[in-house]
Amino acid sequence: MPEIEAPLAILAELTHRCPLQCPYCSNPLELERARQELETDEWLRILDEAAALGVLQVHFSGGEPMARRDLEALVAHAAAVGLYTNLITSGVMLDDRRAAALAAAGLDHVQISFQDVDDAEGDRIAGYKDAQRQKREAARRVRGAGLPLTVNAVVHRQNLARLAEMIELAVELDAARIEVAHVQYYGWALRNRAALLPSRAQLDAATAIVEEARERLRGRLVIDYVVPDYHAALPKACMGGWGRRFLNVTPSGHVLPCHAAETLPGFDFPSVREASLAAIWRSSDAFNRFRGTSWMQEPCRNCERREIDWGGCRCQAFALTGDINATDPVCGKVADRTILEAAVRESAAPPPPLIYRRIGGEQPVRPATVVPTAG
Ligand code: FES
Repeated sequence: MPEIEAPLAILAELTHRCPLQCPYCSNPLELERARQELETDEWLRILDEAAALGVLQVHFSGGEPMARRDLEALVAHAAAVGLYTNLITSGVMLDDRRAAALAAAGLDHVQISFQDVDDAEGDRIAGYKDAQRQKREAARRVRGAGLPLTVNAVVHRQNLARLAEMIELAVELDAARIEVAHVQYYGWALRNRAALLPSRAQLDAATAIVEEARERLRGRLVIDYVVPDYHAALPKACMGGWGRRFLNVTPSGHVLPCHAAETLPGFDFPSVREASLAAIWRSSDAFNRFRGTSWMQEPCRNCERREIDWGGCRCQAFALTGDINATDPVCGKVADRTILEAAVRESAAPPPPLIYRRIGGEQPVRPATVVPTAG
């Protein structure tokens, strides 16, 4: 067992409630209900315990974290115990009053997700009327309150043709950073993979756009860019390695090594209602199961990259192979790589309608109306 360092960051999923219905939502397929959510004093204790454990950053997320009326109190407490505070929001609930209150509470940074640059397309993907306009307004409020802004541009085959305009939108909104985030195909996004996965030609065109913009906007806008796993040459060290850097607290208090960990079978994820964050981080089976390299099978076990990519993503390996110990199929050394290649071939066909999610479990199907497929 390797030495266990303090986690760098905690993702505080305050709620799974969200007005948006993005077809690539990273929340679990089974959403937790409002009545199961942790109370304010429970979150305050978690923040205390996180700071004592050595955590440096707290990311307030969801669902839509602004659906919690106590968000400002949680931010103020996190700031008071010395945590760097980041709010990850859709922006559609961020009015003037709350922007000012969050700034006054000591919030350090805001990330607003954008589904597109085109209003109609952004609203269609979010499943929410007027979302795009409200997001732009929210971004202006964030900057007006003096807070640094990152634009989270979620990209896929149905909006990559407008990537250059999305980068320009970040400049126009006075963001310091844009995260060009390709959809990752776990959970809900996996159901919509054929509708969202870009072709290799689309990806190459996007990479060229990012490289040109990075050069042109140097010193003005930082552009983070991660290629989608299905086109990557090597597996990523998901979460920086299982149980090495991050922990995730769900709305009801379960502590997970990554946001998708509940898709894995055979785990009993502990709750902050039953144990301290420190005990869960250091001693729980959930965090220790894939720590280090002793759990690995071939070819990971003897691979020179085993302490670089840590076997890749556990959730993706299980979702695609049915084996939680398998090497991530992104790795070119395993035959399972053909699963990804087949998915890429499948995405050359016209995209099927998106499957949307709703908190009641309803899954209406909407047709794709606009499908720009450069390449
Ligand atoms: Fe769970 Fe990658 S998302 S390990």
